[in-house]
Amino acid sequence: MQPHWSRRKFMGASGAGLAAGAAAGAAPAAAPAADDARPAPVRIVGVACSPRKGKTSAAALRVCLEAARAAAPNIEVELIELAGLSLPGGPAAGVPLGPEERDDFPRVMAALTDQRTAGIIVATPVYYSGLTFLCKAFLDRLGACRRDNFALADKVGGVLAVGVVRNGGQELAIQAVQNALLCQEMIIVGDGRPTAHTGATLLNPGTDDIAGDEFGLATARNLGRRVAQVALRLARTTKG
Ligand SMILES: Cc1cc2nc3c(=O)[nH]c(=O)nc-3n(C[C@H](O)[C@H](O)[C@H](O)COP(=O)(O)O)c2cc1C
Repeated sequence: MQPHWSRRKFMGASGAGLAAGAAAGAAPAAAPAADDARPAPVRIVGVACSPRKGKTSAAALRVCLEAARAAAPNIEVELIELAGLSLPGGPAAGVPLGPEERDDFPRVMAALTDQRTAGIIVATPVYYSGLTFLCKAFLDRLGACRRDNFALADKVGGVLAVGVVRNGGQELAIQAVQNALLCQEMIIVGDGRPTAHTGATLLNPGTDDIAGDEFGLATARNLGRRVAQVALRLARTTKG
């Protein structure tokens, strides 16, 4: 990976632990080798869409991904921060890149369309009751996935938003992102129980420190767990 490719792997696949695909009581035709008994890795990729690297939406996404990772031993998580990457929006509309223009989108797309990636969690700061310009450029560029035979179809999608006001438009931003992900034939989920609403909604109290936002952090954890659980369920169905 290039140095500007800002991403961080949290943990790789670990050993067995999840009974994937085997119906209770049904004897397998042949005893599987030890490796075959292990459930295949299920990857959840988080995309942080703030132009500010490592700030509140990225921090909330880390919490979310950690909850996803904790859902099962075969969950892998990966964080991609768009901050510092070059994601020109022009190509989404067929405008060619300038001769010197760098485009990091193909590598982002490769991570998302990878067969092992079963879930995608998008985190955006709230900008004037909507998503950030970077998030919009990213979502527009995902049109390439539609053109690639809907390469994101049936991947699980979840959305997280952080604002500086408690009701500053988090749910509006989440819905705007969800609508774009629906155009990819993704399967959209909200934050899981007990909150079970649109997605993860967090408050930055103005200090860029979200550690005290217990409610918001709970929604982030619930979202991560929910995305992972649905992705695991789909993986078992596909395998079976
Ligand atoms: C241009 C701009 C517009 C913003 N608009 C809103 C808004 O409408 N509602 C809100 O709650 N916060 C708003 N904010 C605050 C950010 O959502 C908040 O600081 C967030 O935590 C930033 O995420 P980051 O730390 O990941 O960059 C705005 C910030 C900027 C820079």
